[in-house]
Amino acid sequence: MKIVVTGGAGFIGSHFIKYLLKEYPDYKVLNIDKLTYAGNLENLKEVEKNPNYKFLKVDICNRDMEDVVDGYDVIINFAAESHVDRSIQEPEAFLKTDIMGTFNLLEISRKKGIHRYIQISTDEVYGSADEGYPFSEESPLNPSSPYSASKASADLLVLSYYKTYKTPGIIIRSTNNYGPNQYPEKFIPLFITNAIEDKPLPLYGDGKNIRDWLFVRDNCRAIDIILHKGKTGIIYNVAAEQERENIFIARKILEYLGKPESLIKFVPDRPGHDRRYSISCERIKELGWEPEVPFEEGLRITIEWYKNNEMWWKKIKSGEFLEYYRRQYKL
Ligand code: NAD
Ligand code: TYD
Repeated sequence: MKIVVTGGAGFIGSHFIKYLLKEYPDYKVLNIDKLTYAGNLENLKEVEKNPNYKFLKVDICNRDMEDVVDGYDVIINFAAESHVDRSIQEPEAFLKTDIMGTFNLLEISRKKGIHRYIQISTDEVYGSADEGYPFSEESPLNPSSPYSASKASADLLVLSYYKTYKTPGIIIRSTNNYGPNQYPEKFIPLFITNAIEDKPLPLYGDGKNIRDWLFVRDNCRAIDIILHKGKTGIIYNVAAEQERENIFIARKILEYLGKPESLIKFVPDRPGHDRRYSISCERIKELGWEPEVPFEEGLRITIEWYKNNEMWWKKIKSGEFLEYYRRQYKL
């Protein structure tokens, strides 16, 4: 199989490329990435010399890039602006990449007769599941942030292309991922790296917001199964079934690193902050997938990785990130 992965220099995309090249030594992978602040080719060091892997620095919004995908069977679109807090500060880039970028890739898929187009979406498109049942794939879209609204818009485009042009799209909506190589603006890596440096852990609101944490390798396995066995025109939820309050995770990180709870600093809440994400995923379970990594085990692996790879995140935290962080916390 010949696969185009977009956004492959980011957190989940880079894990997926490494996973794919290991599990399927005869597959060819083309990684298309604009290398925004979140793109990092160091994430792909171990595969950069693999003859089945190729990288091109391209923006998915670029209308002239259609020849790039010639000869490829599948497009998997990970490329996105992905951080909710940035979407609150500067939403425009989210609309451009997440909506117009998806539109461009769908147009290319239609014109080039791509066999399968996989859109990497998110459980955030359903909005907050404050109480009651988890959302299923049939639940209405109710996004709260410019990020989730952009992702929901992209999902609607994928579904419309399937209905109108038979473009063979599939949508995957997973819960929050965590693991090595996640950019340290996101909750878990921010809190781990701040704790290592004895810096405050900025906990939003009352710290009782709930997310369902999926270890990134479990998500790679889910995408693999959907790539090979998923039905086009269908949405697949991917849940970890391990919901945790933010404050629980903050305490676990501090406990693991032997740091005092006094590092937790309650800060003003994020505007439009969804209280709880919760989804069911019977559909992918019917394909034979289950989440495997227990949260405490995944968190331990993740903390160890950040402890052992200080160079990776210290370089990030001293560059563009610092400016973002100062803006975010008005320092
Ligand atoms: P990330 O921010 O770590 O990586 C995004 C990648 O996309 C980067 O390499 C960046 O350079 C690239 N990119 C951004 N704009 C681009 C453009 N215009 N053209 C080409 N490349 C571009 O994101 P992530 O956490 O790895 O998320 C990947 C995907 O998974 C996103 O679509 C996100 O919405 C979705 N998702 C993420 C999570 C999560 O918890 N991280 C959960 C569910 C879904
Ligand atoms: P985040 O990693 O930004 O993912 P998302 O908002 O897309 O789920 O945040 C996860 C949770 O952690 C969310 O409830 C917001 C909270 N959070 C904090 O309390 N402090 C922080 O500094 C960050 C970045 C997030």
